[in-house]
Amino acid sequence: MTFNEEENNPLVCFCFNIKLHEVQTIIIQEDVHTIFDIMARCKAGNGCTSCWPLLEELLSLKPPEPGGF
Ligand code: FES
Repeated sequence: MTFNEEENNPLVCFCFNIKLHEVQTIIIQEDVHTIFDIMARCKAGNGCTSCWPLLEELLSLKPPEPGGF
C-alpha cells in the first residue's frame, strides 16, 4: 500500500493552497473556534470564501475542550 498525498491531505483552500492537515493542526492545537480564528492563523478562508462550509465542518469536528460543555 502506498501513501497517496492527494487523497490523505487534499487542498481545503484553493485560493491560498492550504491543505487539510494544516487546518486540522491549527484547529486541534490552537484556541480556534471560528472561521475568523482560522483566517487569523493561516490564510485559509481569506479569499473567495468557497471553502467556508468545509472550514465550518472541520471546526465542528474539534474535540470538546477539557472542562467545557
Ligand atoms: S478557497 Fe478558501 S478562500 Fe477561496
